[in-house]
Amino acid sequence: MKILVTGGAGFIGSHTVVALQQNGFETVIVDNLSNAQDTVIQALEKIVKKKLTFHQGDCNDAAFLSEVFKQHTIEGVIHFAAYKAVGESVKSPLKYYQNNLNSLMTLLQQMEASQTRNLVFSSSCTVYGQPDQLPVTEDSPIKLATSPYGNTKQVCEEIISDCIAAHMPIKALVLRYFNPIGAHASALIGELPIGVPNNLIPYVTQTAAGIRKELSIFGDDYETPDGTCIRDYIHVMDLAQAHVKALQFLQARSVASFYDTVNIGTGEGKSVMEVVKAFIKTTQVALHYTIAERRAGDIEQIYANADKAKRLLGWEAKHSLEEALGDAWRWQQQLEKKKS
Ligand code: WQD
Repeated sequence: MKILVTGGAGFIGSHTVVALQQNGFETVIVDNLSNAQDTVIQALEKIVKKKLTFHQGDCNDAAFLSEVFKQHTIEGVIHFAAYKAVGESVKSPLKYYQNNLNSLMTLLQQMEASQTRNLVFSSSCTVYGQPDQLPVTEDSPIKLATSPYGNTKQVCEEIISDCIAAHMPIKALVLRYFNPIGAHASALIGELPIGVPNNLIPYVTQTAAGIRKELSIFGDDYETPDGTCIRDYIHVMDLAQAHVKALQFLQARSVASFYDTVNIGTGEGKSVMEVVKAFIKTTQVALHYTIAERRAGDIEQIYANADKAKRLLGWEAKHSLEEALGDAWRWQQQLEKKKS
C-alpha cells in the first residue's frame, strides 16, 4: 500500500515516514524543500535502511502532482505540506492563504481524478483559540482564528468536509495536533527551524547549546498555577504513530465517504516553567532564562481531551515530556557536532 506524504521532509512529515515504514507501508515523499533540507531524505534512508521514493515539487503544481499520481498507485495521502509560522502568517497573509488553501484543493482534485480514497489531514489545536473549557474536546467550539495560519487550518477543514458532504468519494480524518516536540531516538532527524526559532523547545535547546544567549519566557502573569502559559506537548514519534493508526482506521472503513476530526495530544497540560525545569533536570544542562513580556497572540492555556483518539483509533501518547526533551537535546547536540 503506497502512501503519499506531502511535506514528508518536514519535522512531523519525516518522523511519520519512519512510523509508516516501520508499520509496513510504502511511502512516496513529496516536498518542495521550501522549509526542509534534502539531507533529511538521506537521514530517513539511514533510519529505515532502504532507498526512499522522493519527488521534489510543489503541491500547488497540478501537473507535478498529476505526474506523481501517474507514477504510483497511491492508496492514501497524508497532507502535511503547508506554511506553519503563526507570526509570519500575520505579516504575509496572502502567501499563507495562497499556499495552504490552494495546495489542498489541488491535492483533492488529484485524489478525485486518481480515485485515491484515504486522506489524513494535518490540522492544529489552533482552531480552538482559547477554549472556554479544558481539556478541549473535538466538539469544543471553533473560535475566530487569531492568525491567518490558524484560519487556513479552519478553512482547510471546511474544504474537506464540504467536498465530502458533496459526495466526493473520500474518507478523511483531520488530526488536530497540540504541540509537537522532540526527535527520533537516533538523533538523525528532528526539528530544523530556519533562523530564530518561534517555538519553545528549539529555542530552549539552542539556548542550552549556547547558540542563543538566553530564553525569554513570554509572561508569568497568566491565570495559571505558576503564571506561565500551559500547553500539551506531544512527542513527535507519538504524533507520527497517530497517523499510522488513522490510515489503518480509514483502510478498514468500507464506506463511500467519511469525515471526522481527532485531537492528538497527551491530555496533560504543562507550563513553560515546568518545561524549563524538566529540561534542566533531564539534561543536567544549565539553561539561562528571563521573564519577558507576554507574546502577542498567545493563548493562556490549552490541552487535549484525548479520549476520542483512544476510542476511535486505539491510539494514545506513550512518551513522557522528559523523554521528548531528552531526544530534542540529543538532536541539538548532533546538529552541533555536524557543524564542527
Ligand atoms: C509555546 C509556549 C509561548 C517561545 C504554535 C502554533 C501551533 C503549532 C505549534 C503549528 C507559549 C512560550 C515560546 C519562547 C516562550 N504550530 N514561549 N518563549 O504558540 O503554543 O503553538 O506552535 O502547527 O499551531 O500556534 O507554540 O512553542 O511557540 O509556544 O515563552 O521563546 O512557549 O509563549 O506559551 P504555540 P510555541
